[in-house]
Amino acid sequence: MTDPKQWSPETLAAHTLAGIDPASGAVVPGIQPSTTYLRGADNSYPHGRVYSRPDNPGYEVAANLLTKLEGGADSLLFASGMAAATALFLALSPGDHVIAPTVMYWALRRWLLEQATRWGLNVELVATDDLAALAAAIRPGQTKMVWLETPSNPMWTISDIKAVAELAHAAGAKLAVDSTVATPILTRPLSLGADLVMHSATKYLNGHSDVVAGALVTAHKDDFWARVRTNLSGVGGILGPFEAWLLQRGMRTLPIRMKAASLGAMELAQRLQSHPQILQALYPGLPGFPGHEIAARQMTGGFSGMLSIRVKGGETAAIKTAARVELWVRATSLGGVESLIEHRSSIEGPTSPVPADLLRLSVGLEAVDDLYADLDQALRA
Ligand SMILES: Cc1ncc(COP(=O)(O)O)c(C=O)c1O
Repeated sequence: MTDPKQWSPETLAAHTLAGIDPASGAVVPGIQPSTTYLRGADNSYPHGRVYSRPDNPGYEVAANLLTKLEGGADSLLFASGMAAATALFLALSPGDHVIAPTVMYWALRRWLLEQATRWGLNVELVATDDLAALAAAIRPGQTKMVWLETPSNPMWTISDIKAVAELAHAAGAKLAVDSTVATPILTRPLSLGADLVMHSATKYLNGHSDVVAGALVTAHKDDFWARVRTNLSGVGGILGPFEAWLLQRGMRTLPIRMKAASLGAMELAQRLQSHPQILQALYPGLPGFPGHEIAARQMTGGFSGMLSIRVKGGETAAIKTAARVELWVRATSLGGVESLIEHRSSIEGPTSPVPADLLRLSVGLEAVDDLYADLDQALRA
């Protein structure tokens, strides 16, 4: 048998690394609903598991596969992407200085500014694509974490993971990357120097819009990671066994879905950028996009399935365009097989830095011609 260490992401994902169940011969992993595990007469736990809040064999399938795909040392699954992200910040200490991007997933930005600060974190938002601004904001010895999201929601701003890792490490800070949009198929932040990777597994990792889940991957099994693990079990934001099973099933097709979505988004971005009703198409794969060169260096195999368009005629025209689509689905979220369209600033509220004329597009697996034709009629109507 060939060595799984040499397997490509496609092979790793297709096989999940779980192997054949020795008891039943089943080809796919099972679901283990038990909340508790047998204790031996000698008072030990002979199966290595005590209770299902910290331990379930079903968590291990998706977590081990993600660890391999990201090239990490360990992974943990959470009840949502927010549960995963907040577990990282709560492993810091009150008074620690934290840097996060100005444009990022809005609910996490709001939690950082409104809740993490109440807990004593000193949160500063910086344009993390601007290395000079970032270098000026980092406080050696005080900054304990730099948080990146790349490409970042919903302008798809690109941050240079390798350069930021060097700046963060020189100051004694960890670098954590929300890689939800890139996934390990397109970017491997740990190989570029990041210490931690976070995913809203609700999106591409699961890929079918039927599970809310989150994941963290670490490059080092250190004391900080031990605190994160304690936060998972102690706060209790765990994934259920059925959701963990759905997640590993979705992950089996992750490489092929990412490539197809990236191809579709690239073609749509190219066609939409010259559409008469469109002011601007925002997509890291377009050569004129700020950050394109960094994206081309740190992303491999595509630029993901997310793009945004700024519609001529402002907010009203954007909302009317979204109202007229027939194939695209008007809904929040991203990364599923069906394409979604969303007027972003109205969901993010008055403090949003997102332009009011922006529509966010999550490109699924439909034929690009069908997606384009539907958008075209909605834009022209
Ligand atoms: C980039 C990004 N990070 C984190 C999250 C939060 O994930 P969840 O909804 O799974 O809690 C989202 C959700 O939309 C997201 O898009």
